[in-house]
Amino acid sequence: MSKQYRTDYELSELRLKAYSFLDEKRIAHVAGCEQEAVRLAEKYGADICQAATAAILHDITKKLDLPNQLILCKRYGIICDEFETKNASLLHAKTGAWKARELFEIEQPVFDAIMWHTTGRPDMDLLEKIIYLADYIEPSRSFEGISLLREKAYEAIDPAMALGLKMSIEDIRARGYTLHPVSIEAYEFYKEKEHA
Ligand SMILES: [Fe+2]
Ligand SMILES: [Fe+2]
Repeated sequence: MSKQYRTDYELSELRLKAYSFLDEKRIAHVAGCEQEAVRLAEKYGADICQAATAAILHDITKKLDLPNQLILCKRYGIICDEFETKNASLLHAKTGAWKARELFEIEQPVFDAIMWHTTGRPDMDLLEKIIYLADYIEPSRSFEGISLLREKAYEAIDPAMALGLKMSIEDIRARGYTLHPVSIEAYEFYKEKEHA
């Protein structure tokens, strides 16, 4: 059975518990992500409470280093590919989804939105796209091109995904970080929609 977080009381209890897993500096990001996710959910007609729940929980394992991420993978039976076994940043999306499910009995769409918030994937559902974009454009973020991405995010969500994925792929390449092939597949999928 999954649990729904619908009332202000339930959501503030959830916030309190989720924030205890975060580094101080990440709390502002997660709060901003929730605010942005709710706005996007309102704009596109997604479930607002699910958007808030996924945003509140999306980085719940972010502060764990690689060895601890791998311990969680073992515990939850997450099979890691060659990219993930070396990269805590990629793994936190997967371990976060599983941990959120274990601790808070989240619903499947919330689980999926946490699972895909870092890499994206082709043909994402609306909540997945909302969390992907909210994570990227929330108010405390600042990087070159963010105003255009913010604008696009409220114009049409698929072209915004194309732009977001493109910017993210370019940024990962420029920094020499591990780029997961599913992000490229996701970009290929949304690319045609960029100028739609
Ligand atoms: Fe994250
Ligand atoms: Fe995040």
